[in-house]
Amino acid sequence: MQTHKLSILLAALIAISHYKDVAALTCSTGAGTSQACADNVTECFVKTDNGAVTRGCSTDPACAPPNCLKCNTDNCNAALMCKQCDASQPHCGRTTGASSSNMICGSPTQQCAIQLQSNGTVARGCWNCAANDATCKSCATDNCNVGIFPENRRLCYQCSGESCSNLDNSTMLLGCAIYQATGQKCYTIGTSATAMQRGCQSDTAADNKCSATSTDANCLYCDNDNGCNNRPYSRVLGSCYKCNDNDKCPLQQAGNVTECAAAVYTQNVNSCYTQLLANGVVARGCTNELTGGCNASNNCDACEGTSCNAAAAVFKCLICRSDYFAGCREGHVGQENCPSSSLSGPDAMKCFSGEWDGVVIRGCLSEASDVMKFQCSKASSARCTECTGMGCNTESYSGAGTLQQMALTLFALICIVHKYI
Ligand SMILES: *[C@@H]1O[C@H](CO)[C@@H](O)[C@H](O)[C@H]1NC(C)=O
Ligand SMILES: *[C@@H]1O[C@H](CO)[C@@H](O)[C@H](O)[C@H]1NC(C)=O
Ligand SMILES: *[C@@H]1O[C@H](CO)[C@@H](O)[C@H](O)[C@H]1NC(C)=O
Ligand SMILES: *[C@@H]1O[C@H](CO)[C@@H](O)[C@H](O)[C@H]1NC(C)=O
Ligand SMILES: *[C@@H]1O[C@H](CO)[C@@H](O)[C@H](O)[C@H]1NC(C)=O
Repeated sequence: MQTHKLSILLAALIAISHYKDVAALTCSTGAGTSQACADNVTECFVKTDNGAVTRGCSTDPACAPPNCLKCNTDNCNAALMCKQCDASQPHCGRTTGASSSNMICGSPTQQCAIQLQSNGTVARGCWNCAANDATCKSCATDNCNVGIFPENRRLCYQCSGESCSNLDNSTMLLGCAIYQATGQKCYTIGTSATAMQRGCQSDTAADNKCSATSTDANCLYCDNDNGCNNRPYSRVLGSCYKCNDNDKCPLQQAGNVTECAAAVYTQNVNSCYTQLLANGVVARGCTNELTGGCNASNNCDACEGTSCNAAAAVFKCLICRSDYFAGCREGHVGQENCPSSSLSGPDAMKCFSGEWDGVVIRGCLSEASDVMKFQCSKASSARCTECTGMGCNTESYSGAGTLQQMALTLFALICIVHKYI
């Protein structure tokens, strides 16, 4: 009976020790080498620590994802450790993928890969790209499938709200989630320094005010450089001559210029103006400080650049004769400078247009003959009209005068409008 028990115990011990021999695990220690693990070790590990990757039998109870991964078959940890994220995760394409989770590939022959999806997103994981597939990149070292992909994916500042006024490259300069091979644009939009929004035109988010179909004039787009959408809400673009009365604002400006008020982000270049006020008074300044804007209807002339509003102020009208230039009938001519005498006096800053015996004549009122001035000043006159304002004499005349009419009246015309020949 005793012998019987002893033999059963022996058999059990032999069975256990035999089982232990079979179960001893082999783990890769990297670079093609491996080790037999201690009897009580049942898992292999792969661990990344600041880029350095180690492998072996798993004996560290603290080994846990994402940086330490375990598997439990012989040499299972010989396979690569790769970055893993899928196309539904925007960070997968926006960032280099370095902070994505890690995975151990299922087989030692699998590589780490990045794949561009047809919708412009990216997926990372373990697989081998097909040969000559430009939308896929695979590599054979641990966690090598990082990086912006494709490499020319546009980087735009992506942020909104208050923080968007203080741009930070590490958190805001990101790849566009949707890749476009060409024409990828960044945008800037906002109503104040603390209410800005920046991103990629291709962003599919519902709050993207500057998508490709947007017609919002406040959207500023750029595609010349990564991070080109970096304009602050407003900035000083330059200086202009500023003055607004006869003493300090002579016809030809010299002296000191003054910085303009900060211009909003949609303004690209500094703009200065020269404006003609009543009786030849000249005003100069920065266009973005002129309420009501600067245009011909308020006798204002804008120029681009810093200190560009130095030149003598000039009044302009359409100046032409239809017998010399047919386009004069419809007013298809550019504005030309009137002499400085047109800046003051009763005819200051007035133009005229009229038809005399089939010939349309346009010009500066100060240059017209007395007879013409008389005709032009009469509201009832069908022959001529005067108007006030830069280039205002654009009225179109229908029909064409006959050559005969013109020949008959040429002499009379010369006498009346001596200055416009
Ligand atoms: C395995 O056994 C050794 C010594 O017998 C011990 O030091 C170690 O902590 C054990 N490891 C595990 C994972 O249990
Ligand atoms: C792009 O396509 C992938 C699958 O091909 C899908 O998982 C992902 O959600 C799509 N993303 C967008 C923004 O359409
Ligand atoms: C931020 O990124 C842009 C675009 O790459 C670069 O021009 C700029 O120098 C970077 N700024 C800082 C502070 O690194
Ligand atoms: C221009 O500015 C300088 C220095 O501020 C000043 O000394 C000078 O008088 C100014 N000139 C004119 C014409 O205002
Ligand atoms: C010209 O300026 C006036 C204000 O002085 C403004 O009412 C008008 O809309 C402007 N016209 C154009 C074409 O910008």
